[in-house]
Amino acid sequence: MRNTVGACQCGYTTDPEKNCNGTHKVVKAVKEDMAEKLAANGFPHAAEYVKNN
Ligand code: FES
Repeated sequence: MRNTVGACQCGYTTDPEKNCNGTHKVVKAVKEDMAEKLAANGFPHAAEYVKNN
C-alpha cells in the first residue's frame, strides 16, 4: 500500500497522478543538506534561499 496523503503540495512528487508519495521528505533532506554546506562554505544567503524556496 502506498503512503499517500492526497495531492502533492511540494511539486516534486514522482507520482504520475501528482499525489503526494513522500518525495517531499527527500526534497527537504536534500535542501537541508545543501543549505548546511552552503552556509559552511560562506554562502549564508544562498543557504537561506535554498531552504526557503
Ligand atoms: S507534498 Fe509533494 S511529495 Fe509530498
